[in-house]
Amino acid sequence: MKYCWQQPGLSADRQAEIVLAEMTEDEKYAWLSGPMAIPLGDEPLPEGAIGSAAFYPGIPRLGIPAMQQSDASLGITALGNVRPGDNATALPSSLLLASTFNPDMAERSGKMVGREAFAKGFNVQLAGGANVIREPRGGRNFEYLSEDPLLTGVMAGHSVLGIQSQHVVSTVKHFAVNAQETGRVVVSSDLDEAAMRESDLLAFEIAIDTGKPGAVMPGYNLVNGEWASENAFLLNKVLKGDWRYPGWVMSDWGATHSAAKAALAGLDVQSGANLDQQVWFDRPLREAVAAGIVPQGRIDDMVRRILRSLFAVGAIEHPAQPGGDIDYMAHRLVAQREAEQGIVLLKNRHSVLPLKKGAKRLLVVGAHADQGVLAGGGSSAVTPVGSLRLPGIDFMGIATDKVYQPSPPLHAIRAESGAASVDFHSGEDIASAVEQARDADAVIVFAEEWRSEALDAQGLALDDKQNQLIAALAASHQQVIVVLETGGAVTLQWLDDVAAVLQAWYPGSGGGEAIAGVLFGRVNPSGRLPVSFPLHEQQLPQPSQIDPQTTTSLPGVPVKGDILHIDYNVEGSDVGYRWYARTRQKPLLPFGYGLSYTTFSSSHLSASRQGAGIEVSLDVTNTGDRPGAEVVQIYIQPANKAYVPRLAAFARVELAAGESRQVTLMLEPKVIACWHSESGQWVIAGGEYEIAAGRHAAEFMLTCTLVLPEQRFGRQRQPKTTSA
Ligand code: BGC
Repeated sequence: MKYCWQQPGLSADRQAEIVLAEMTEDEKYAWLSGPMAIPLGDEPLPEGAIGSAAFYPGIPRLGIPAMQQSDASLGITALGNVRPGDNATALPSSLLLASTFNPDMAERSGKMVGREAFAKGFNVQLAGGANVIREPRGGRNFEYLSEDPLLTGVMAGHSVLGIQSQHVVSTVKHFAVNAQETGRVVVSSDLDEAAMRESDLLAFEIAIDTGKPGAVMPGYNLVNGEWASENAFLLNKVLKGDWRYPGWVMSDWGATHSAAKAALAGLDVQSGANLDQQVWFDRPLREAVAAGIVPQGRIDDMVRRILRSLFAVGAIEHPAQPGGDIDYMAHRLVAQREAEQGIVLLKNRHSVLPLKKGAKRLLVVGAHADQGVLAGGGSSAVTPVGSLRLPGIDFMGIATDKVYQPSPPLHAIRAESGAASVDFHSGEDIASAVEQARDADAVIVFAEEWRSEALDAQGLALDDKQNQLIAALAASHQQVIVVLETGGAVTLQWLDDVAAVLQAWYPGSGGGEAIAGVLFGRVNPSGRLPVSFPLHEQQLPQPSQIDPQTTTSLPGVPVKGDILHIDYNVEGSDVGYRWYARTRQKPLLPFGYGLSYTTFSSSHLSASRQGAGIEVSLDVTNTGDRPGAEVVQIYIQPANKAYVPRLAAFARVELAAGESRQVTLMLEPKVIACWHSESGQWVIAGGEYEIAAGRHAAEFMLTCTLVLPEQRFGRQRQPKTTSA
């Protein structure tokens, strides 16, 4: 044994304690703030840095490796082309992952990210986007999972489990209520505690319970008037207090605003400190300690938390080294399989899909489908070798690209269709596209909507040009199939006029093959929408948006000082489908919706109390003639309608043609409960509940009832029954 922490049987806590005792104060402070490890202007890379989001030096005499931190949830990025020539596998967007409703898929793809991180020398992955999607126009919605706290929390937690299984720490981010990009450092998300606990915080709580991420990253935004990175309620009270979170809290890049205040509120590390007004977590923090404002014990606590998380995933015992082997072919298949499960079939008039193989001529139109599939922009954009890069936007002083990942649908369609000819038209000239479509057996139009970090969608419509293109093709051809590559919900004004629509989100490194697989029936679509698609923006709780061109707000968005306040109490915890239910509005497409090439039926729904938990079971049958997957969705609502139906359990079930299976699920007690701020507890009100198996959030096929006793519980997962 060489190092002090290498004794058999030591817990991560103990190992952290032992190393901490050996560290000098300078070594400690070297970990409490760091610059972005991507050169900005003339700044050189810190010595020893691979080139990525952040680098913190190792301590060789103690056997502690450097911390090399990379973005993000969808694969290993190289922002600003910091590692020229570097390859990486791009997973589909997180929205697509959530559309699979498959936690195993989240774990499998997380593992792939962890493997690539490790082989490239990274031991901290800035992944785990777990914000509830409150703002359908949010620029980073593609990095987040869904509008539902349970689905978001479970999927994020499993993706963290996958990453951390590879000796790589994962974050969850951006804690919390970080719903939009416009004015992202000056926007306060205002939301009452109970509503927050039942929605945005619940997603993080479940993700953290499930995945045990080593670090948490607060958002750029303010929450109820305090920046998330110095918000004592979020960090000290909820995260470290109520949830007893043992890991570290790292700020977002350039999102730290103070030394003592942030340190005392629970922030442990100032990330991207060169983007801040000043390096707070070095000299100013040392001064605050010397003045007795911040206790020395707090500095030790910060470092202990980092060490503990690194030890807990084995990042110190098994140090990541650059230059490891990566099987990109196998990883591309992981991405493709995910896309195949998550692509959502939105419309299929007269079962036009799957298309018959061996057509005479097919026409593929638009969205650079001859070159690749679109990716979302910003720090999460993965750029596999061969990507098409168009100019994107500048943020944080770095020029970022609009990236098309090299999985061109055109070639995959040629391979999969067996058609005599498959032609491509860019869609630029609408009249010529219509002309070329004339003698095609089918027209497959790709439509795109690019979202990025720092760039919200302005409105929910596709751009006029694409809408006109689709409308013109649909007016002159019977077999128009639209494939959407979007970063979130969009409005589909031509939906009635086209034959079929596939929602492919941003489908990643195997996206083209996955799309072609669904189009020609190798894959039976099984994705379900993780966000509602509104009919129009007037249906939203916040119909208007802040004007990105100014720091002033639109009417209805009050400005206090330089801070813009968004009142999310309008919808409270009733985000997405719950908002539509509460306001009795019908969205264009509901949460949980998605079609298949086969049909399913459900029967024998029953619910019972099992100890402190609630078990639901039902029989699901594939009544069609091909194998497929059904997503069982269980919703719950008190019989007195105290709240609208909430998703309390889900499961993706694969069934052969004609196969029947009994499915048993446990409901999530924190979804059934409401948060009582006065007592600081979850409370399940005693009484009768209606439990429903939903085809989606707006259609229940089967219902049953169950009487529950009142139950109160704190942070533990399973509640204690307090009365019979
Ligand atoms: C993003 C984070 C990211 C960080 C480091 C920030 O702009 O908000 O999600 O991890 O940059 O690149």
